Amino acid sequence: MAKRELGRGGPHVNPIGLGCMGLAAFYGPPTTQADVNALIHKAIDLGVDHFDTAELYMTNEEQLGEAFAGKRDKVFIATKFGPVVDWATGRRLGVDGSETNMRRAIEQSLTRLRTDHVDLYYLHRPDKSRPIEETIGAMAKLVQEGKVRAIGLSEASSENIRRGAKVHPIAAIQTEYSIFTRDVEQNVLPAITEVGASLVAYSPLGRGMLTGAFSVEAASAQDFRRVMSPRFAGDAFEANRALVREIEAVAVEKNAKAAQIALAWVLARAPNVHVIPGTTKLANLQTNLGAAGVTLTDADIARLGALAERVKGERYDEAGMKALDTD
Ligand code: ATR
Repeated sequence: MAKRELGRGGPHVNPIGLGCMGLAAFYGPPTTQADVNALIHKAIDLGVDHFDTAELYMTNEEQLGEAFAGKRDKVFIATKFGPVVDWATGRRLGVDGSETNMRRAIEQSLTRLRTDHVDLYYLHRPDKSRPIEETIGAMAKLVQEGKVRAIGLSEASSENIRRGAKVHPIAAIQTEYSIFTRDVEQNVLPAITEVGASLVAYSPLGRGMLTGAFSVEAASAQDFRRVMSPRFAGDAFEANRALVREIEAVAVEKNAKAAQIALAWVLARAPNVHVIPGTTKLANLQTNLGAAGVTLTDADIARLGALAERVKGERYDEAGMKALDTD
């Protein structure tokens, strides 16, 4: 698939990147370093160049730092700061978008990633206690200092995108975007396009649900989806699973996998969209890259697009939804 620019005037990267969170956090036990190395090295060989991580993802930055050793010039690294966690208890202490917290976070991320710069640095969640101009202003200093190549926001409102872009160009807005989660389309995507940014779609597979292969029962007890995602709970999961049949039906028609249909749908929505499906498995990585070869007709896109309004359950629990800033 043709590479896409990441942010106006930014580098061109494979629009199918790799979300690395699940290698270390939230979806069960961490992947061993040997398996991380094998997956990342193969991903690079297969043409993946955009890797997404965050300070919040436990040991993920360290895993990647080791896997990228000797390969820094082949990879575009995106990481994030903001949420503060008391790691002794696991308690979330809110979001701190201050310059002090940002400087602590970037130095630690650079050390863990074993590099002197990251290609894209996001504020992971809005800091509702301070104006966006303050945080973007601080992040702009990191660009001037060469520690960060470009700035992004994750789960930002259209207002904050527009205000932030007046302080410094914003290369990317990361938010959840998939056949089941289309909230971003109404106000946020127009703002992203207006400021010349890219939309980096996380959970484009609906956290695995849209592949048709995810089973709540089979997931580990620590899995976020078992405890914090209403969409995966009880009757809602059953109802949503029934909607996935429609994606599977399109997949049969195209001789493709449901995961490929889900990714092709997101990529077809706009030329400034990138997807970062997460996987810990080489076979799934290969399947996901195969989405580049799937062409959907306008009728397919409309048929799949109609599913979102029938989805049951929010994507996060109450606390998770409150931490967002979308409109
Ligand atoms: P996130 O952005 O939160 O990682 P996602 O990309 O929508 O969410 O989905 C990730 C989930 O889909 C993971 O549970 C991943 O499981 P594996 O690590 O076992 O692969 C699953 N997944 C990713 N690609 C898949 C594929 N092609 N087929 C089946 N499951 C897949």
